[in-house]
Amino acid sequence: MNDIPPDRSTIDTATLERVRADVTSARAHFNHAGMSLTPAPVLDRVLTHLQLEAELGGYEAAVAVGDELAAVPAVLAEMLGATADEIAATESATRAWETALWSLAETFDYRGGDRIIVDQFAYATVHSTLAALHRSRGVEMTVVPAHPDGRLDAAALAASLDEHTRVVVVTHMPTHVGTVTDVAAVGRLLAGSDAVFAVDLSQTLGQLPIDVGAIGCDVAFAPGRKFLRAPRGTAVLYVRAALADQIVPLALPFGAVDPDDLGRFTLPAGLRRLDQFEYGVAARLGVAEAARYAMALGLDRIGATMADRSRAVIERLASFDGVRLTGTPDDRGIISFVHPTLSPEAVQVGLSAHGVNTWVNPAGGAPFDAAARPVLPSVRVSPHYLTSDDDLDRLERALHALD
Ligand SMILES: Cc1ncc(COP(=O)(O)O)c(C=O)c1O
Repeated sequence: MNDIPPDRSTIDTATLERVRADVTSARAHFNHAGMSLTPAPVLDRVLTHLQLEAELGGYEAAVAVGDELAAVPAVLAEMLGATADEIAATESATRAWETALWSLAETFDYRGGDRIIVDQFAYATVHSTLAALHRSRGVEMTVVPAHPDGRLDAAALAASLDEHTRVVVVTHMPTHVGTVTDVAAVGRLLAGSDAVFAVDLSQTLGQLPIDVGAIGCDVAFAPGRKFLRAPRGTAVLYVRAALADQIVPLALPFGAVDPDDLGRFTLPAGLRRLDQFEYGVAARLGVAEAARYAMALGLDRIGATMADRSRAVIERLASFDGVRLTGTPDDRGIISFVHPTLSPEAVQVGLSAHGVNTWVNPAGGAPFDAAARPVLPSVRVSPHYLTSDDDLDRLERALHALD
């Protein structure tokens, strides 16, 4: 259910025309996995609030939109099949993961002898947070190898679980190939285990329907700026209610500490305890607007359209002599390749000169996978549901012009 949407119907042509009209960029944008193009209603919501801050004053403007702001966790929760108290908004996926992991480590006193299991596709900062935890608390990290074709080896993951395993963190889709991991199958494997199951949804939020209950995860995180099409500096953290009510954040919320006794503090229920007084209010209103925009289109229909657009990219790239695709024929959202003669950087710069945005997957982006398979560095081409045939033609022409 987190892979191929059950409803295979794609977004209809009239709706696609409308969503394309919501974009102002003249470029052929194939970097939605980096940051998508902000749709007009999201941009409008952000700009309107910045304007209101300038007119009323920032604190006064926040009061004026108080109800809408308070509803942001509920909107994000609806998209993920969670409740508002299970959702916190943060500035980046890295910050969300770091906040969750360090709070867990402090609350449950992770130490030497404890283990964290991580998949081969882990993003650089998922890895570096684990490395920092190892350095400060001695927690061991075990990397589960993947099958050579890039699928998670669920049997290897099950075999590496033991009573010392505190956390299992799995990447729903890596940063550098569009292979979807069946995270619900991992959730079933972990059912009954005491380990916290965390899922990195960074590259799937906004391109596939996600239901944290169906996945069976305890923690999930993703930025808003990628396929969800929210402003930069936005992200979402999910922590299952029973766990959220137990964690003690490293940074206590405003007003939590008893002024007469620094050792006493009271925490709000659920993830409201992670809320901080200061954040980018306009961007936060924007991420909720982006979630509403995606839900109005239907994440199942977005998923089906994405599958179609991704196949089209794969066909166009595969027709180039010598171009080596680094993913599978089923990859979606992220299609990466190695050019026969040019470096990924030279390809990206060359395409950009023709108005085509792509990106480079550096080897450091997914360090375990880079060490295990010849998939990095590479050029990342990431379409979205709004990618048109004209965009595809421009990509193809720009690639021909490189030779
Ligand atoms: C799979 C994956 N995880 C995590 C991240 C980190 O997201 P952020 O830059 O918002 O911290 C990225 C960013 O590209 C990613 O691709």
